[in-house]
Amino acid sequence: MINEENEIIGLDFWSAFGEKLVQYMNLTPGARILDIGTGGGACLIPAARIIGASGYIIGIDRWENQVAKTLENIKSNLLTNAMAEIMDANDLTYDNNTFDSVISGFIGFGDVFDFQNHKYRKENDKMKHILRVLKPDGKTGFSTWQSQGELDCLRKLLQDYLAKYTTKSKEDSNNVPISYSKETKEGFEKILQDVGFNNVKVFSEDFILKYESVDEWFNMIKRSGWILHHTLDKDEKKILDFKDKMLPHGISSYKQKDGSYYFTKSVIFAFGTK
Ligand SMILES: C[S@@+](CC[C@H](N)C(=O)[O-])C[C@H]1O[C@@H](n2cnc3c(N)ncnc32)[C@H](O)[C@@H]1O
Repeated sequence: MINEENEIIGLDFWSAFGEKLVQYMNLTPGARILDIGTGGGACLIPAARIIGASGYIIGIDRWENQVAKTLENIKSNLLTNAMAEIMDANDLTYDNNTFDSVISGFIGFGDVFDFQNHKYRKENDKMKHILRVLKPDGKTGFSTWQSQGELDCLRKLLQDYLAKYTTKSKEDSNNVPISYSKETKEGFEKILQDVGFNNVKVFSEDFILKYESVDEWFNMIKRSGWILHHTLDKDEKKILDFKDKMLPHGISSYKQKDGSYYFTKSVIFAFGTK
Protein backbone atom coordinates (compact mmCIF):
# COMPACT_ATOMS: atom_id res chain seq x y z
CA MET A 1 0.00 0.00 0.00
CA ILE A 2 1.13 3.57 -0.69
CA ASN A 3 0.13 6.46 1.59
CA GLU A 4 -0.37 10.14 0.70
CA GLU A 5 3.35 10.92 1.20
CA ASN A 6 4.17 8.23 -1.40
CA GLU A 7 5.61 6.04 1.36
CA ILE A 8 5.22 2.33 0.84
CA ILE A 9 3.71 0.71 3.92
CA GLY A 10 5.48 -2.60 4.57
CA LEU A 11 8.14 -3.99 2.30
CA ASP A 12 5.97 -5.51 -0.43
CA PHE A 13 6.67 -2.87 -3.04
CA TRP A 14 5.68 -5.17 -5.92
CA SER A 15 2.03 -5.20 -4.75
CA ALA A 16 2.10 -1.47 -4.05
CA PHE A 17 3.40 -0.66 -7.55
CA GLY A 18 1.02 -3.18 -9.14
CA GLU A 19 -1.92 -1.42 -7.53
CA LYS A 20 -0.58 1.95 -8.63
CA LEU A 21 -0.24 0.92 -12.30
CA VAL A 22 -3.75 -0.54 -12.27
CA GLN A 23 -5.08 2.65 -10.70
CA TYR A 24 -3.50 4.74 -13.49
CA MET A 25 -5.04 2.48 -16.17
CA ASN A 26 -8.64 3.41 -15.21
CA LEU A 27 -9.87 -0.09 -16.06
CA THR A 28 -13.61 -0.61 -16.34
CA PRO A 29 -15.83 -3.54 -15.34
CA GLY A 30 -16.21 -6.10 -18.11
CA ALA A 31 -12.84 -5.35 -19.76
CA ARG A 32 -10.59 -8.03 -21.30
CA ILE A 33 -7.03 -7.56 -20.07
CA LEU A 34 -3.61 -9.09 -20.69
CA ASP A 35 -0.93 -8.81 -17.98
CA ILE A 36 2.55 -9.43 -19.41
CA GLY A 37 5.27 -10.72 -17.07
CA THR A 38 2.72 -11.34 -14.37
CA GLY A 39 5.31 -12.55 -11.80
CA GLY A 40 3.28 -13.32 -8.68
CA GLY A 41 0.26 -11.38 -9.96
CA ALA A 42 1.01 -7.97 -8.44
CA CYS A 43 -0.87 -6.20 -11.28
CA LEU A 44 -3.22 -9.05 -12.16
CA ILE A 45 -4.94 -9.37 -8.76
CA PRO A 46 -5.99 -5.71 -8.35
CA ALA A 47 -6.96 -5.53 -12.05
CA ALA A 48 -9.14 -8.66 -11.72
CA ARG A 49 -11.00 -7.08 -8.81
CA ILE A 50 -11.80 -3.93 -10.81
CA ILE A 51 -12.99 -5.62 -14.01
CA GLY A 52 -15.27 -7.90 -12.00
CA ALA A 53 -17.01 -11.14 -12.96
CA SER A 54 -18.01 -9.86 -16.42
CA GLY A 55 -14.38 -9.08 -17.28
CA TYR A 56 -11.46 -11.37 -17.97
CA ILE A 57 -7.73 -11.15 -17.32
CA ILE A 58 -4.92 -13.43 -18.50
CA GLY A 59 -1.46 -13.20 -16.94
CA ILE A 60 1.50 -14.55 -18.87
CA ASP A 61 5.05 -15.20 -17.77
CA ARG A 62 7.92 -17.07 -19.36
CA TRP A 63 8.74 -18.94 -16.14
CA GLU A 64 6.63 -21.84 -14.94
CA ASN A 65 7.23 -21.11 -11.24
CA GLN A 66 5.92 -17.55 -11.67
CA VAL A 67 2.79 -18.81 -13.42
CA ALA A 68 2.26 -21.33 -10.61
CA LYS A 69 2.58 -18.50 -8.06
CA THR A 70 -0.01 -16.41 -9.90
CA LEU A 71 -2.41 -19.36 -10.18
CA GLU A 72 -2.10 -19.91 -6.43
CA ASN A 73 -2.74 -16.23 -5.82
CA ILE A 74 -5.81 -16.28 -8.09
CA LYS A 75 -7.14 -19.27 -6.13
CA SER A 76 -6.50 -17.80 -2.69
CA ASN A 77 -8.19 -14.54 -3.74
CA LEU A 78 -11.22 -16.56 -4.96
CA LEU A 79 -11.09 -14.92 -8.38
CA THR A 80 -13.06 -16.61 -11.17
CA ASN A 81 -12.23 -14.09 -13.91
CA ALA A 82 -8.47 -14.63 -14.07
CA MET A 83 -6.03 -17.22 -15.39
CA ALA A 84 -2.30 -17.46 -16.02
CA GLU A 85 -0.20 -19.31 -18.57
CA ILE A 86 3.38 -19.70 -19.74
CA MET A 87 4.19 -17.54 -22.74
CA ASP A 88 7.02 -15.31 -23.94
CA ALA A 89 6.17 -11.65 -24.55
CA ASN A 90 8.29 -11.78 -27.72
CA ASP A 91 5.90 -14.27 -29.24
CA LEU A 92 2.33 -13.74 -28.05
CA THR A 93 0.00 -16.34 -29.54
CA TYR A 94 -3.25 -14.35 -29.13
CA ASP A 95 -5.22 -13.11 -32.15
CA ASN A 96 -5.01 -9.53 -33.35
CA ASN A 97 -7.40 -7.09 -31.60
CA THR A 98 -8.14 -9.36 -28.60
CA PHE A 99 -7.66 -7.15 -25.52
CA ASP A 100 -9.09 -3.84 -24.28
CA SER A 101 -5.91 -3.22 -22.26
CA VAL A 102 -2.43 -4.67 -21.91
CA ILE A 103 -0.58 -3.99 -18.67
CA SER A 104 2.97 -4.90 -17.76
CA GLY A 105 4.87 -4.31 -14.53
CA PHE A 106 8.67 -4.22 -14.66
CA ILE A 107 9.37 -6.71 -17.44
CA GLY A 108 12.21 -4.49 -18.62
CA PHE A 109 13.01 -3.44 -22.18
CA GLY A 110 16.79 -3.29 -21.68
CA ASP A 111 17.24 -6.32 -23.93
CA VAL A 112 15.62 -4.39 -26.80
CA PHE A 113 16.71 -0.81 -26.17
CA ASP A 114 19.94 0.58 -24.73
CA PHE A 115 18.42 3.25 -22.49
CA GLN A 116 21.78 4.78 -21.53
CA ASN A 117 22.76 5.41 -25.17
CA HIS A 118 19.19 5.86 -26.47
CA LYS A 119 19.40 3.33 -29.27
CA TYR A 120 17.95 -0.04 -30.22
CA ARG A 121 19.77 -3.28 -29.58
CA LYS A 122 17.32 -5.30 -31.68
CA GLU A 123 13.80 -5.36 -33.15
CA ASN A 124 11.14 -4.52 -30.58
CA ASP A 125 9.01 -7.66 -31.03
CA LYS A 126 7.54 -7.34 -27.53
CA MET A 127 6.06 -3.92 -28.22
CA LYS A 128 4.86 -4.90 -31.70
CA HIS A 129 2.97 -7.87 -30.26
CA ILE A 130 1.35 -5.69 -27.61
CA LEU A 131 0.10 -3.28 -30.27
CA ARG A 132 -1.12 -6.19 -32.41
CA VAL A 133 -3.18 -7.93 -29.68
CA LEU A 134 -4.80 -4.69 -28.48
CA LYS A 135 -8.21 -3.76 -29.87
CA PRO A 136 -8.41 -0.44 -31.77
CA ASP A 137 -8.40 2.35 -29.13
CA GLY A 138 -7.11 -0.16 -26.61
CA LYS A 139 -4.72 1.12 -23.97
CA THR A 140 -1.38 -0.16 -22.74
CA GLY A 141 0.42 0.74 -19.52
CA PHE A 142 3.87 -0.10 -18.15
CA SER A 143 5.86 0.45 -15.03
CA THR A 144 9.63 0.31 -15.07
CA TRP A 145 12.63 1.43 -13.01
CA GLN A 146 14.17 4.87 -13.32
CA SER A 147 16.27 4.10 -10.23
CA GLN A 148 16.29 1.96 -7.11
CA GLY A 149 18.02 3.75 -4.22
CA GLU A 150 18.81 0.62 -2.19
CA LEU A 151 20.39 -1.20 -5.12
CA ASP A 152 22.37 1.82 -6.30
CA CYS A 153 23.65 2.24 -2.73
CA LEU A 154 24.50 -1.47 -2.45
CA ARG A 155 26.43 -1.35 -5.72
CA LYS A 156 28.48 1.62 -4.50
CA LEU A 157 29.21 -0.10 -1.17
CA LEU A 158 30.29 -3.29 -2.95
CA GLN A 159 32.61 -1.31 -5.22
CA ASP A 160 34.15 0.49 -2.21
CA TYR A 161 34.50 -2.80 -0.31
CA LEU A 162 36.25 -4.57 -3.21
CA ALA A 163 38.63 -1.65 -3.69
CA LYS A 164 39.45 -1.19 -0.01
CA TYR A 165 39.38 -4.64 1.57
CA THR A 166 40.10 -7.19 -1.17
CA THR A 167 42.77 -7.84 -3.78
CA LYS A 168 40.23 -7.46 -6.64
CA SER A 169 41.30 -5.16 -9.48
CA LYS A 170 39.84 -1.74 -10.20
CA GLU A 171 38.19 -3.31 -13.24
CA ASP A 172 36.40 -5.92 -11.05
CA SER A 173 35.14 -3.16 -8.86
CA ASN A 174 33.93 -1.12 -11.87
CA ASN A 175 32.23 -4.23 -13.23
CA VAL A 176 29.83 -4.73 -10.31
CA PRO A 177 26.56 -4.82 -12.29
CA ILE A 178 23.70 -2.32 -11.85
CA SER A 179 21.50 -5.41 -11.29
CA TYR A 180 18.23 -4.09 -12.70
CA SER A 181 17.03 -2.63 -15.97
CA LYS A 182 17.54 1.11 -15.43
CA GLU A 183 15.37 2.82 -18.02
CA THR A 184 14.56 6.40 -19.06
CA LYS A 185 11.40 8.39 -19.78
CA GLU A 186 12.79 9.55 -23.14
CA GLY A 187 13.62 5.98 -24.13
CA PHE A 188 10.23 4.67 -23.16
CA GLU A 189 8.48 7.45 -25.05
CA LYS A 190 10.50 6.51 -28.12
CA ILE A 191 9.84 2.77 -27.99
CA LEU A 192 6.09 3.37 -27.62
CA GLN A 193 5.92 5.96 -30.39
CA ASP A 194 8.12 4.01 -32.80
CA VAL A 195 5.72 1.04 -32.99
CA GLY A 196 2.78 3.39 -33.55
CA PHE A 197 1.16 4.02 -30.18
CA ASN A 198 -0.83 7.26 -29.91
CA ASN A 199 -1.40 9.59 -26.94
CA VAL A 200 1.87 8.47 -25.41
CA LYS A 201 2.23 9.70 -21.86
CA VAL A 202 5.30 8.97 -19.74
CA PHE A 203 6.13 10.27 -16.29
CA SER A 204 8.08 9.21 -13.22
CA GLU A 205 7.14 9.15 -9.59
CA ASP A 206 9.30 8.73 -6.47
CA PHE A 207 8.33 6.37 -3.66
CA ILE A 208 9.93 6.03 -0.24
CA LEU A 209 10.75 2.68 1.28
CA LYS A 210 11.26 2.89 4.99
CA TYR A 211 13.49 0.44 6.91
CA GLU A 212 13.32 0.45 10.71
CA SER A 213 16.95 -0.60 11.22
CA VAL A 214 20.23 -1.45 9.49
CA ASP A 215 19.42 -5.15 10.01
CA GLU A 216 16.02 -4.79 8.33
CA TRP A 217 17.72 -3.14 5.36
CA PHE A 218 20.47 -5.73 5.19
CA ASN A 219 18.02 -8.66 5.45
CA MET A 220 16.07 -7.24 2.52
CA ILE A 221 19.31 -6.84 0.55
CA LYS A 222 20.28 -10.44 1.35
CA ARG A 223 16.90 -11.66 0.08
CA SER A 224 16.63 -9.63 -3.09
CA GLY A 225 20.00 -8.04 -3.89
CA TRP A 226 21.51 -10.74 -6.06
CA ILE A 227 24.62 -8.59 -6.73
CA LEU A 228 25.59 -9.06 -3.09
CA HIS A 229 25.76 -12.86 -3.50
CA HIS A 230 27.16 -12.65 -7.02
CA THR A 231 29.95 -10.20 -6.13
CA LEU A 232 30.91 -11.98 -2.90
CA ASP A 233 30.93 -15.45 -4.49
CA LYS A 234 27.86 -16.62 -2.48
CA ASP A 235 30.22 -16.92 0.49
CA GLU A 236 28.45 -16.29 3.82
CA LYS A 237 31.76 -15.39 5.52
CA LYS A 238 32.51 -12.70 2.93
CA ILE A 239 28.93 -11.38 3.19
CA LEU A 240 29.28 -11.03 6.97
CA ASP A 241 32.67 -9.36 6.56
CA PHE A 242 31.12 -6.92 4.06
CA LYS A 243 28.37 -6.13 6.58
CA ASP A 244 30.87 -5.63 9.42
CA LYS A 245 33.14 -3.35 7.41
CA MET A 246 30.56 -1.30 5.47
CA LEU A 247 27.58 -0.91 7.82
CA PRO A 248 26.09 1.08 9.42
CA HIS A 249 28.27 4.00 8.26
CA GLY A 250 27.74 3.11 4.56
CA ILE A 251 24.04 3.95 4.77
CA SER A 252 24.24 6.75 7.36
CA SER A 253 23.28 9.41 4.79
CA TYR A 254 19.87 7.68 4.45
CA LYS A 255 19.20 7.82 8.21
CA GLN A 256 16.22 9.81 9.47
CA LYS A 257 15.76 11.62 12.79
CA ASP A 258 13.63 8.75 14.16
CA GLY A 259 16.44 6.24 13.47
CA SER A 260 14.82 4.64 10.42
CA TYR A 261 16.32 4.64 6.92
CA TYR A 262 14.58 6.01 3.81
CA PHE A 263 15.44 4.82 0.31
CA THR A 264 13.82 6.16 -2.86
CA LYS A 265 12.60 4.05 -5.71
CA SER A 266 11.83 6.08 -8.80
CA VAL A 267 9.29 4.42 -11.09
CA ILE A 268 8.50 5.33 -14.69
CA PHE A 269 4.87 4.89 -15.73
CA ALA A 270 4.23 4.85 -19.48
CA PHE A 271 0.96 4.68 -21.42
CA GLY A 272 -0.24 4.65 -24.99
CA THR A 273 -3.34 3.89 -27.05
CA LYS A 274 -3.68 1.94 -30.30
C1 LIG B 1 10.30 -8.00 -12.02
S1 LIG B 1 9.06 -9.16 -12.30
C2 LIG B 1 7.59 -8.21 -12.04
C3 LIG B 1 6.36 -9.05 -11.88
C4 LIG B 1 5.04 -8.29 -11.82
N1 LIG B 1 4.64 -7.81 -13.12
C5 LIG B 1 5.08 -7.14 -10.85
O1 LIG B 1 4.84 -6.00 -11.24
O2 LIG B 1 5.38 -7.40 -9.66
C6 LIG B 1 9.11 -9.33 -14.06
C7 LIG B 1 8.44 -10.60 -14.56
O3 LIG B 1 8.39 -10.53 -15.98
C8 LIG B 1 8.70 -11.79 -16.51
N2 LIG B 1 9.21 -11.60 -17.88
C9 LIG B 1 10.31 -10.88 -18.24
N3 LIG B 1 10.47 -10.91 -19.57
C10 LIG B 1 9.46 -11.68 -20.07
C11 LIG B 1 9.10 -12.09 -21.37
N4 LIG B 1 9.81 -11.75 -22.43
N5 LIG B 1 8.00 -12.88 -21.52
C12 LIG B 1 7.27 -13.24 -20.44
N6 LIG B 1 7.58 -12.89 -19.17
C13 LIG B 1 8.65 -12.12 -18.98
C14 LIG B 1 9.72 -12.36 -15.55
O4 LIG B 1 9.77 -13.77 -15.65
C15 LIG B 1 9.19 -11.88 -14.21
O5 LIG B 1 8.31 -12.79 -13.63
